[in-house]
Amino acid sequence: MAKSTLSFVCQNCGAAYNRWQGKCESCSEWNTLAEEDSTGNVPVSIRSKRKGRTFALESLSGKSHDAPRLSSGMVELDRVTGGGFVRGSVLLVGGDPGIGKSTLLTQATSMLARAGHRAVYISGEEAVAQVRLRAERLGLANAPVQLASETSVEDIVSTLSEGTVPRLIVIDSIQTMWTDTVESAPGTVTQVRASAQALIRFAKKTGAAIILVGHVTKDGQIAGPRVVEHMVDAVLSFEGEGSQQFRILRAVKNRFGPTDEIGVFEMTGLGLREVSNPSELFLSERDLGSPGTAVFAGIEGTRPVLVELQALVAPTSLGTPRRAVVGWDPSRLSMVLAVLEAHCGVKLSGHDVYLNVAGGLRIQEPAADLAAAAALVSSLVNAPLPTDAVYFGEVSLSGAIRPVAQTSARLKEAAKLGFGRAVLPESARGDVSDAGLALNSVGGLTTLVAEIAARGTPRGNHQTQRDAEPVEKNATPARFRREKG
Ligand code: TYD
Ligand code: MG
Repeated sequence: MAKSTLSFVCQNCGAAYNRWQGKCESCSEWNTLAEEDSTGNVPVSIRSKRKGRTFALESLSGKSHDAPRLSSGMVELDRVTGGGFVRGSVLLVGGDPGIGKSTLLTQATSMLARAGHRAVYISGEEAVAQVRLRAERLGLANAPVQLASETSVEDIVSTLSEGTVPRLIVIDSIQTMWTDTVESAPGTVTQVRASAQALIRFAKKTGAAIILVGHVTKDGQIAGPRVVEHMVDAVLSFEGEGSQQFRILRAVKNRFGPTDEIGVFEMTGLGLREVSNPSELFLSERDLGSPGTAVFAGIEGTRPVLVELQALVAPTSLGTPRRAVVGWDPSRLSMVLAVLEAHCGVKLSGHDVYLNVAGGLRIQEPAADLAAAAALVSSLVNAPLPTDAVYFGEVSLSGAIRPVAQTSARLKEAAKLGFGRAVLPESARGDVSDAGLALNSVGGLTTLVAEIAARGTPRGNHQTQRDAEPVEKNATPARFRREKG
């Protein structure tokens, strides 16, 4: 007979140990082990000895339900989910406290309810009055959302099993839910896992879409069980810099759609506003004509996004110079710095280097290498880059500039926003016939560095605002220009 196994379960990653220890060997967190019944879920009395029943096996080509997706009415949210909520699917939305998860989901449920669907909002954290207060502030108090403040999964499931099947159920948050099939306290790994399991079962059985809100720990992991991430169909992460108004919704995992799309929102006094043209937003507060900034023409999912990279290169007073980067991969920065030193004769070992992506966006593309390099050199030699130029291209370890995908989409977006020229990889020429921009193609980083350095003035006696565009158009060497036509 299986004996009840009490074991110590890490509350961060779910790893189980049979004795207590200070540090979890799986995720290296300290003091996260708590005693739980890790076999967990099914009490022996329920486990029956009956023979399994047989069920019908179906073919892939069978008829599926009507309208498998339900649009949320929010374009940016639909973009991230891949076109709306899939029936019977379960989504996990994670994010820092106060980032706006409850606001986003209140807006989404209200939109659906107004469109005539049954939408339910279960808050385990806030009282009904608090949720109402928020809805009032958002101007959504009259939306026919069904609201409750509940934490028992069994009660929730039996309540929602009555009447028409809800199209959308929001559970805010999964960490506050508990089920009496397991004995651990609410918020523990076992409880969260069992509650999530019960809700997922309900979603699959009835076809309702469920959104679980999950808390995020200090280092950005969805707290408690990573296991929940494996159980759900999609994991969305809601991010933003505390001081900024911009919020970015990103798909981390999606069984029914792409994972590289982002949705951009702005937090206003009246809730979250969708931002359909993020480039305009990210470039809205540009510091025109100051050294150390370069506009990167990037791609987020299917959408081109223009964003400003800001660099500061300053002599260091420390033995080991500082390298700090916000919004980009630190190891890519190190690589670009190494290439600049090794191939372009740029000496940075005596300088602190700071790089920031404006607007709180996090860039993952290697295509940002060229823009980062341009911003760094521009700051080092104190030479502003042309304000009407965008940059993109991957820097290879040899110092060559490699082509990147979707060149024409990047150029089109830049032209649309009024940019006049693009600095891009030489080999990208093929697919950029009529972009409406002057194209300055560079084959190697050395060329670009020489070009920027030629305009530089030593730090300190930079002639102020003599000319917003330090290089006259005629002075640009012909090989850097490729006019349209
Ligand atoms: P909330 O949705 O409660 O965050 P979460 O559920 O992720 O913890 O959002 C709380 C923050 O959003 C709070 O700091 C106030 C701000 N906010 C606004 O700026 N405008 C609004 O209309 C609302 C409802 C909230
Ligand atoms: Mg909340």
